[in-house]
Amino acid sequence: MILPFEVKLAAGASLVENTLRDLLDARPLEGELYRPERLLRAMRHGVLNGGKRLRPFLILETAALFDASDDVAALRVAAALECVHCYSLVHDDLPAMDDDDLRRGQPTVHRAFDEAAAILAGDSLLTYAFDIVSAPETPLPAEARLALVNRLARASGIGGMAGGQALDLAAEGSRLSEEEILRLQAMKTGALIRYACEAGGVIGGAQPADIERLGEFGAAIGLAFQLADDLLDLTSSSETMGKATGKDAAAGKATLAGLHGVDWTRRQLNGLVAQAEDILEPFGERAETLRQTARFVADRQK
Ligand code: IPE
Ligand code: IPE
Ligand code: MG
Ligand code: MG
Ligand code: MG
Repeated sequence: MILPFEVKLAAGASLVENTLRDLLDARPLEGELYRPERLLRAMRHGVLNGGKRLRPFLILETAALFDASDDVAALRVAAALECVHCYSLVHDDLPAMDDDDLRRGQPTVHRAFDEAAAILAGDSLLTYAFDIVSAPETPLPAEARLALVNRLARASGIGGMAGGQALDLAAEGSRLSEEEILRLQAMKTGALIRYACEAGGVIGGAQPADIERLGEFGAAIGLAFQLADDLLDLTSSSETMGKATGKDAAAGKATLAGLHGVDWTRRQLNGLVAQAEDILEPFGERAETLRQTARFVADRQK
C-alpha cells in the first residue's frame, strides 16, 4: 500500500516521541544522582511539544536504505538528534538571541519557566544527546557509536550549528554577500540536517561513498529547509507556524528570501529539490520516501 507522505512522517514522529518520552523519564540512569524535577519539566516542555520531527525522520529513512530503520539504534540516534535540535530552539528563542515567546504553538521554555531553566534545559538536552548515542543501550559496534558521536559534535558546535547561530546574530543589520549567507545557513541549519542523512548511513553500515552521497543530499535539503523557513517568515502567519513570523526583516536578519523576494526563492527551492533528487539517483526506487521528503521540505506550509 502506498501511504501519503504526511502519514509516513507522522508515523516516524510517533515512534521517535515514544523514545523521547522514555528517555525523559524521572528515574536517574546509572551514574546519575538525581533528576531535578523542574529542570526535567523544562526539558520535556522543550521536546515533547509537537514539532515536525523532520531530522529524526531523515535518520530513519536513510537508515531504511540499508534495512536498518526499525532498529533501536536508529530510533535512539534519531531521538538524540532531536534533543540537539530542541536545545538549539530553546536557546534560539532566548532574549539574548531571537527573543521569542511562542514555539510550536506554546510559550517558549524561558516564558513557561525562566531564563535560567531554559539555559539549563538546553545544556542538559545537548549533553544528553551524546549520552544517548554513546551508551551501550544503543546497539551498534563501539566504532560506529564513536563515529556518530564525533560527527554529531562537529555538526553541533563551532563549525556547525552553534557557529552558524553566532554568524546569524553577528549579521543582524549588516549586509552579507550571498556566499556568506549560504555558509551561515549551511552551518546553523544545514549541519544538523546533513548529519541526519549521514547518520542513517553510518547506522546501516553503508560504504563511505554512500554516506558521502547522503551527506550531499542532506546539504541540498538543508539549504532548502532554511530558504523555506525564511520564506515562511515573510509570507505565513504565527497561527499557522506556531512561532512568530515577520521578524527576520524587522531584526535585520540576513536571508536570501529577504534579499531576492518570493518568486526567486520558490525557483531556488525547486532547483534544490531537483538537485536532491539527482543525488539520490543511484539508490533507485528505495529512495522514493527521501525524494518525497525533499519535496516536502521545499513546499511545506509550516
Ligand atoms: C525550525 O526548525 C528551526 C530552523 C532550523 C529553521 P523546524 O521547522 O524543524 O522546527 P520544528 O522542529 O518542526 O518545530
Ligand atoms: C534557527 O533559525 C536555526 C537554529 C539553529 C535554531 P531561526 O531563528 O530562523 O529559526 P526559527 O524561525 O526561530 O524557528
Ligand atoms: Mg535564530
Ligand atoms: Mg529564531
Ligand atoms: Mg526562522
